[in-house]
Amino acid sequence: MEKIAIIGAGRVGESTAQFLAKNDTCRELVLLDVREGAAEGAALDIQETAPLFGFDTRLKGGTDAAILSGAELVVITAGIPRKPGMSRSDVLDTNVAILDKLVDGIMEHAPDAMLLLVSNPVDVLTYRAWQRTGWPRNRVFGQAGVLDSSRMASFVALETGLSVNDINAMVLGGHGDSMVPMLRYSTINGIPVRHFLSEEAIARIVERTRHGGAEILALKQTSSAYDAPAAAIAAMVDAIALDRKRVLPTVALLEGEYGERDVAMGVPCILGRNGVESVIELPLEPSERKEFDQSLAGVRNDINRLK
Ligand code: 2OP
Repeated sequence: MEKIAIIGAGRVGESTAQFLAKNDTCRELVLLDVREGAAEGAALDIQETAPLFGFDTRLKGGTDAAILSGAELVVITAGIPRKPGMSRSDVLDTNVAILDKLVDGIMEHAPDAMLLLVSNPVDVLTYRAWQRTGWPRNRVFGQAGVLDSSRMASFVALETGLSVNDINAMVLGGHGDSMVPMLRYSTINGIPVRHFLSEEAIARIVERTRHGGAEILALKQTSSAYDAPAAAIAAMVDAIALDRKRVLPTVALLEGEYGERDVAMGVPCILGRNGVESVIELPLEPSERKEFDQSLAGVRNDINRLK
């Protein structure tokens, strides 16, 4: 990819820029932030690691949305993070107002870009960006499930003592406490995780996955998670930039899949050069469908607050 932009030079934005630069994912990487000097400083700091890591990405930061011009992919991390004890929905009103302004700037300066939403509540903000841009759904999508699945896979590795290299976990639904860890589709080298874990261990993993973000926030107190979120974003960007056609859980607009429309939520998608190239509709068992519906109801509830 020639040019990627990251909006928000906070911890998630800066860490994402580090990963993308280190991986030489694109030729030009720009950071935009309203805080004077924040994006510029982060870009320069990362640029100065280039000789050590050997990447050729050129980084630039600024406060003017014109810097987005020509970006093929814009990652949106800007917004206020939640504080300990808050839910992701508690930051909705503030972050929608921030997003609306950003989206207008993107439409003006990078009208052909794809948007990868990260700010919370990510399902709702993805919906909002899609609605406001009027762009097709392949170009407007969000990151949540890659992070949640990575958390779940980590917990499976910790509980079993087995290598993460063989573990594949899948988490669907909204990025909230009612997200849906899909045990039937989570495997260790093709063998369902249930073969290796007791019911108690599975319950612990599900609980810890659902509250993965809150666990980090409660420990750090002054910051949400950013290492794993940034790595998850980088994995999605890599799939798109290199046209890998990876199957990754993605916050996508549903257009009849799972019997739903006019809502965005985490579902498995094929990610490639055109963004969300297709949404995969998995057959769900009644208990999975029930959890999926509960998660969907929470997202819809927040979406209705926008209307
Ligand atoms: C997380 O899950 C902040 O939503 C983010 O860590």
